[in-house]
Amino acid sequence: MNSIERLFCPYCGFQLKIQKVLSEGIDANAIVKCECYRYPIIEGILILKKGSTVKNAVRLMERNELSKALINLIEVGPQGGDVIDHISLSLDQASHEMLGITTPFHRLWLIYKKMTSRPLLEKTTKLTFFAAIDSLKWKSWGNYLKFRFSSPDFVAALPLIHLIKQTHSTILDIGCGAGHSSFIIAKHIPEERIICADKTFINLYLAKKFFVKNASFICLDANNPLPFTNESFSSIFCLDAFHYVISKRLLAKEFKRTLKPDGILLLPHLHNSLTNIRRGMAVEALTPKRYVDLFDNLEVRLIPEDKVIENFLANDKIDLKEKTSEQELKNSHAIVLVASDNQRFFRVYQNIDIFPKETMKNLIINPIYKVREKRNYLHLTMRAFPRKLGETTDILLMKKYMPDTCVVEKNLITCIRNNRITSKEFKKIHDLMKKFILLCIPENYM
Ligand SMILES: C[S@@+](CC[C@H](N)C(=O)[O-])C[C@H]1O[C@@H](n2cnc3c(N)ncnc32)[C@H](O)[C@@H]1O
Repeated sequence: MNSIERLFCPYCGFQLKIQKVLSEGIDANAIVKCECYRYPIIEGILILKKGSTVKNAVRLMERNELSKALINLIEVGPQGGDVIDHISLSLDQASHEMLGITTPFHRLWLIYKKMTSRPLLEKTTKLTFFAAIDSLKWKSWGNYLKFRFSSPDFVAALPLIHLIKQTHSTILDIGCGAGHSSFIIAKHIPEERIICADKTFINLYLAKKFFVKNASFICLDANNPLPFTNESFSSIFCLDAFHYVISKRLLAKEFKRTLKPDGILLLPHLHNSLTNIRRGMAVEALTPKRYVDLFDNLEVRLIPEDKVIENFLANDKIDLKEKTSEQELKNSHAIVLVASDNQRFFRVYQNIDIFPKETMKNLIINPIYKVREKRNYLHLTMRAFPRKLGETTDILLMKKYMPDTCVVEKNLITCIRNNRITSKEFKKIHDLMKKFILLCIPENYM
């Protein structure tokens, strides 16, 4: 709670102060204020956005009606209006239509409505992430979230975690979505070092409930100045989100301002406006050259996303030394951007291991596979990739590494369950994780 007073209002720029604490701890409820507004912290999520929903949440919190305030923040009726603008929906309307999202938050609200007035986070501990997604009736966006751990753009971000591990202070995961990447990052560094930020309250709520409950959470719009002091972060990570932000010049400046001089900026999966517009592609995407121009006083590397994936999966490597030719970048459907003031980052990293033994807990067979049991073996067959994501080149690339069919010893699964992994099993499990046949997931995932 003390760290709140190190933050600034994105609108008036003045320091935040705690006005009233309703409850403390990681699921704290409180009201904070600056010179121009009052903002809620609800179940540990600070909301730094304006609008009548936020005002109403603060009013309800003053009357100690916390569950109602939470429901209001999650709920969007068909005429969601201000909620759509300010809290719930994250992407612009066009992207939303492409992703098949239809204001479905009222469904979650219906589930919550059946509950008593006890804190919702507590009441819903039995709800799995998949069940929550299903109840929200999120179509493509639901598939995006369910299959996130093995989707190509996510895989391209994994070797970058090796770079985050070289830094020692706070990490900002901005446009964090439901928290999948923060979850994997937290397998390598303490959760407490991560700040998850997103425009969408429900995403942060899911991230906190299912993925990284000990991280910090701020609901903000990255089109506004960021609420952090100068040089706050040793890494800023933004996966598949920067292209959706309209005020890119401002956000690039904010990234530079809030990054420590020896920090690193990681923007995996940037859409490239020069290549074919795909479903779900951000309409606000830039060309590779213009992404570089935004960070003109930092050293920048742009790498085609498929190259990052191939190098990581085939050679356990990421190359930040070599500069990719302009022509190759122009033809890349998506790009990974790495920027820093510190030259030490720009080298070749070998033997990157994102799946050490600590990640071998709570493993599941990737839900992309259908499983049939036959005596001592599990026979896996890949389902069709979520239809709306289509057979794009990145998915075909992924198929190169994820076999259509595969046989897994049942015994291996028993060893994982009983946490009895000897060096013999370790190698087999590691190989299956690298092929994304086995996935490390949070508890209550599916
Ligand atoms: C395609 S999702 C990626 C989510 C996550 N990074 C991942 O890769 O799983 C884009 C995310 O960016 C967030 N976002 C879009 N525009 C934003 C903005 N202006 N400020 C903050 N977050 C934003 C959305 O709410 C959404 O969660």
